[in-house]
Amino acid sequence: MRSTILACVVVLAHGAAAQSGLPPTIDSSAKVVKLATLPKESYTVDQPFTEGATRDPATGDVYFVDQNSNKILKWSVSDKKLSLFMHPAGYANGMTFDQNGKLIACADERNQLWEISTNVTKSVPYPQPLNPNVGDRGTSGNIVLPEYKVIMDGKYNGKLLGGPNDVWSLPDNSLYFTDPYWSRKWWSPGRQSQQDVNTVYRVSPDRKTLTRALATFLTSDGKPGSPNGIISSPDGKTLYVAAYQGPGNGGGETYAYDVGANGVLSNRRLWAQFGSDGMTMDNQGNMYMCAPINGKSGITVVSIATGKQVGYIPVPETPANLAFGGVDQSTLYITAKTGFYSIQTKVKGGHPQK
Ligand SMILES: *[C@@H]1O[C@H](CO)[C@@H](O)[C@H](O)[C@H]1NC(C)=O
Repeated sequence: MRSTILACVVVLAHGAAAQSGLPPTIDSSAKVVKLATLPKESYTVDQPFTEGATRDPATGDVYFVDQNSNKILKWSVSDKKLSLFMHPAGYANGMTFDQNGKLIACADERNQLWEISTNVTKSVPYPQPLNPNVGDRGTSGNIVLPEYKVIMDGKYNGKLLGGPNDVWSLPDNSLYFTDPYWSRKWWSPGRQSQQDVNTVYRVSPDRKTLTRALATFLTSDGKPGSPNGIISSPDGKTLYVAAYQGPGNGGGETYAYDVGANGVLSNRRLWAQFGSDGMTMDNQGNMYMCAPINGKSGITVVSIATGKQVGYIPVPETPANLAFGGVDQSTLYITAKTGFYSIQTKVKGGHPQK
């Protein structure tokens, strides 16, 4: 009897230690390193806000945004340097690479999805901001930008979306994106979502059809949820969608769904009692979530099999997104407010683009 109680105490102490410490996938001597601090530009209304980290499967380079300054940036892993990839960039937010190697961005300014080439440029008339009082007005002449096209025009059934937030590409090259509503200063004043729910949408592989993948997106207490981070299992059969606010730990929840042959999501389960902004996974069955715990900023690492926490990576600023980058894909890159950070891991990313 006595020894059983002792064994319980040991297990509990071990579990508690794992929650605040680094996950087993990261060496205990590894450190979070700040690679870059984004500058505040004169035309912005807020401090930099980095987001949207995704890995170019062709090179291992990491692309991310500073949404407030309307820039897409590129971290070159070969020379360890940050460069400007695109500005203006439609106030891009969440991004991913699709199955054809194109960069897909939630271009929040006009609620669109853009498909952007990493290696072809084009001279175009300088894109003027939607809200003439906010943003870089540029020139009346032309600017050379990465070639891009609008693949989703910002409307569902003729009505404005809430604001595409994060996007994911499945193996069949369909795109799934979350559509919460967060009012933006660069929008036309007073703009509202015209949709009756904040939910998850699907763009067909041929990019011709936009459908709702979920009729509703409710948290486990039955209230309307705010869908945010989105990622699939490697085989594309399960989709994980995080609710940024909800009754779970730290104010969020994440659900798993089956992806049906018709692209519709079904069989919802509450997978983890953590929400997240952007999410990624390693190749050893762990999810890395931008979820605050006890008010401390960092990455919560969760076992995909159990939905339970296996560790925590403290980060000096609040992370909004992350991706395993580099040629061997073993470095975790983290976008957090004004900073761009990395930490070396003992694993590799679970998807070529994340
Ligand atoms: C441009 O990038 C795409 C996607 O990675 C690749 O398929 C294509 O070969 C590249 N083209 C050139 C000219 O490098």
